[in-house]
Order: sequence, then C-alpha cells, then structure tokens
Amino acid sequence: PQITYVQPDGARRSIAAAPGATVMLTAVSNNIPGIVAECGGAAMCATCHVYLDEASQAVVAPVSEVENEMLDSAASGRRENSRLSCQLVLEPGVEEIVVHIPSHQV
Ligand code: FES
Repeated sequence: PQITYVQPDGARRSIAAAPGATVMLTAVSNNIPGIVAECGGAAMCATCHVYLDEASQAVVAPVSEVENEMLDSAASGRRENSRLSCQLVLEPGVEEIVVHIPSHQV
C-alpha cells in the first residue's frame, strides 16, 4: 500500500506505507514538504491540513467532531474535501490514499 502526495504545483510522490500509518506521520518521516504538523498529531493545530482526493474519500474514516472544529482554522481555506492528515489512517486492505497539499499551512 502507498500514500501519494500531490504538491500545489502538481508534483507527485508516492510513499510505501504499512497499514495503520497516518498520512501526516508518513509525510513527516519522508520529508514531504508542506505538512507542518505543529501539534504532533493531536488534532489541535490544523497545520497538517490536506485536500483528500475524491477516490480516497471512501477508504478513510469520516471527520470527527474535534477534527471538524479544527478544520475551520486551516490557513489555506477549508473545502468540502479538507482533512487533517494526522487523522487519516491507512486501513488494512486499502491500496492507496491520495492527498493534495495546500499552498500554505500557517
Ligand atoms: Fe496538528 Fe494534525 S498535526 S492537527
């Protein structure tokens, strides 16, 4: 399984990841630019904001209440497909998650 990151300029990078990995931690540990993750994954900062690719919507858990509140603080503007990448988990059986990185996080 893999997580694919699409930069604002369209550059894509796919990282092999194990089930249970989060989109945020996989980005940080592979030096993917554009995921700041100031709070370290506690759903308290919104600097790990991403736009979830349409095909990936069905394979991740829905937005929780705390995530929903925090997304309103996303620096680059919330959209319908906005998610906190620290809350996006690669579930067993899922082959790929694709996320689009916003232009800025702070
Ligand atoms: Fe802070 Fe995701 S890392 S909300």
